[in-house]
Amino acid sequence: MKYPLLAANWKMNMTRDQARTFCRDLTAKLDPASLSHVLIAPPYTAIETVASCLSGSVRIAAQNCHFAPNGAFTGEISTGMLIDLGVNAVIIGHSERRHVFHESQDLVTHRLRGVVESGLHAIYCVGETLEERESGRTFDVLEAQLEPLPNLGSALDKVTLAYEPVWAIGTGKVASVEQIAEVHGRLKERFSSLAVLYGGSVKSDNIRSIASLSSVDGALIGGASLKVDEFLAIIRETLIVKGV
Ligand code: PGA
Repeated sequence: MKYPLLAANWKMNMTRDQARTFCRDLTAKLDPASLSHVLIAPPYTAIETVASCLSGSVRIAAQNCHFAPNGAFTGEISTGMLIDLGVNAVIIGHSERRHVFHESQDLVTHRLRGVVESGLHAIYCVGETLEERESGRTFDVLEAQLEPLPNLGSALDKVTLAYEPVWAIGTGKVASVEQIAEVHGRLKERFSSLAVLYGGSVKSDNIRSIASLSSVDGALIGGASLKVDEFLAIIRETLIVKGV
C-alpha cells in the first residue's frame, strides 16, 4: 500500500454502470501518481468492472470475505475468488459487520488470518461505540480488537489499521482532532510498523485537520466517496497536507 492512502468504502452502493462512470471520471481528473494513493472497495458485484476500468492504477479491496478456501458456506466469498478478480486487499472487522451483522471477534479474527495468509492485504477496522467511549472503556475495547495482531507473525506487514469510532460512522459526527490523535498515538505506540487510517464522517471540509496529524496515514471514507468530485477533493487535500 502507498501512503497516504485514501480508501473508498462504497458499502452496498453502485451498480456496474454507476461504478464505470465514477472510475472514468476519477481517472480523467487525477494524475497517475495521485491515483496510486487511492483504494476502492466496491460491492462484490462491481469489483470486476472497477478492476477493468482502472487497470491497475488504483488498489482494489473487497468489503469482507470468508476464511475458508471453498466449501458449503452459502453467501460467502473466498480469498481465492477475490484474487481471481484482481483484488489487492480486504476490509475486515468493519463496524457494520461487527454491529449490524453481529460478527464476533472470533469470526473477525478468522477472517483476518485467512486474508493475510492468502497473500492479500487486510484493512483491519477497530473502534468503540459511544456507550463504550462514555463509560471510559475505549482502550479496553480497542485492545480486545487488536488481540489477533501479534499472532500474525511476519504476516503483520500485510495489515493496515483503520480507527473508526462507531459513533462517527455515517452520522456526520466526526471525532475531534484530539480524540483521533489520542487513539492513533496509542495504536502507533503498540504497532509502530503499521499505518493507521481514520474513518468516520470524513468529508472534504474536515479532512485537512485530520490529515494534518502525523499519526494519520490516510482515511477510510464511506458516504463522501460515492460522489467523485467530493472524493477527489478529499484526495487532493490529503496529498497537499502530506506534501505528496
Ligand atoms: P462514513 O463511513 O464516511 O460514511 O462515515 C466510513 C466507513 O464506514 O468506513
